[in-house]
Amino acid sequence: MEKIAVLCSGGDAPGMNPCVRSVVRCAIYNNLKVCGVIRGYEGLIKGDFVDLNARSVSNILTRGGTVIKTARSKEFMTKKGREKAGKMLETFNIDGLVVIGGNGSFQGAYMLCKETKRRVIGIPGTIDNDVSGTDYTIGASTALDTALNAIDKIRDTVSSMERIYVVEVMGRKEPFIAIRSGLAGGAEEVLFPGSGYNADDMCDDIKKGWEKGKESWIIVVAEGAAKAESVANKIRKKTGYESRSIVLGYIQRGGSPNAFDRILASRMGAHAVKALLEGETNKMISIRSDDMKLSPLKDAFKKDMKKMKLEKRMYELTKVLAI
Ligand code: F6P
Repeated sequence: MEKIAVLCSGGDAPGMNPCVRSVVRCAIYNNLKVCGVIRGYEGLIKGDFVDLNARSVSNILTRGGTVIKTARSKEFMTKKGREKAGKMLETFNIDGLVVIGGNGSFQGAYMLCKETKRRVIGIPGTIDNDVSGTDYTIGASTALDTALNAIDKIRDTVSSMERIYVVEVMGRKEPFIAIRSGLAGGAEEVLFPGSGYNADDMCDDIKKGWEKGKESWIIVVAEGAAKAESVANKIRKKTGYESRSIVLGYIQRGGSPNAFDRILASRMGAHAVKALLEGETNKMISIRSDDMKLSPLKDAFKKDMKKMKLEKRMYELTKVLAI
């Protein structure tokens, strides 16, 4: 193995830059050449590569987003697109590819391995923490901090003015940010995909809460469960109480990665280079009980029952603590 490449794919996540830095520097430390692929699989298909050295990744440790850009590629979803990408890796003499991304990106990486026999290692990087087989994905912890910070600030105003606020956080299918920011922020209710909320029951709870002396009421909604504005409108209509909403949106994806994500990204990047040097392919780096592990890429898009049960227990605790 002489040369490897690294790319970011899908939604950006805080920690992608520290991960790119780690892959680049660990590769160079092990006498490998390394290049970055610009705009994920789009750049791979076009052969948009840039040679990187240890200085190319100076001072990116603290920066959100990704300096090598990221994209969602429709063409890579086709066999033809993946064939072109495989050819590019061959033409540019790239012996191994590191893909930093989420579920969708790993499905593409899995197909690329199968169809072109190129060597690929995945690193889970997404704020949604929805990749199976790993306790954490890069970016989830920082995004959670950002959401919590917003909820804490909203709580100050909401309790001063005795209001109800519905906060919409990211997570199309997964409840990670909603449930954990709800628990950490003392939310009165959390709505997430599959939680099956009943507006009448929720409004009854709010009325009872007010009778018990509650001064504020925060409902955290995962974007995949409901629209914050429509939840707030329903509450206003049914209870007559002042009820507002906010969508936190992309602020959760941006910003400087926190210590947890910088450390996770640095460790995962190093482990990916090690795996490629050991001849591994079609695998994903994961963290389990603070240990770095390798698991088959195809397991990354299975349902992770262990994680689902853990989130459910956190939700139940949130409800107990909100009495
Ligand atoms: O990065 C994950 C995620 O933030 C999801 O929670 C969200 O639904 C999605 O990406 C939105 O991404 P985009 O606007 O880039 O399609």
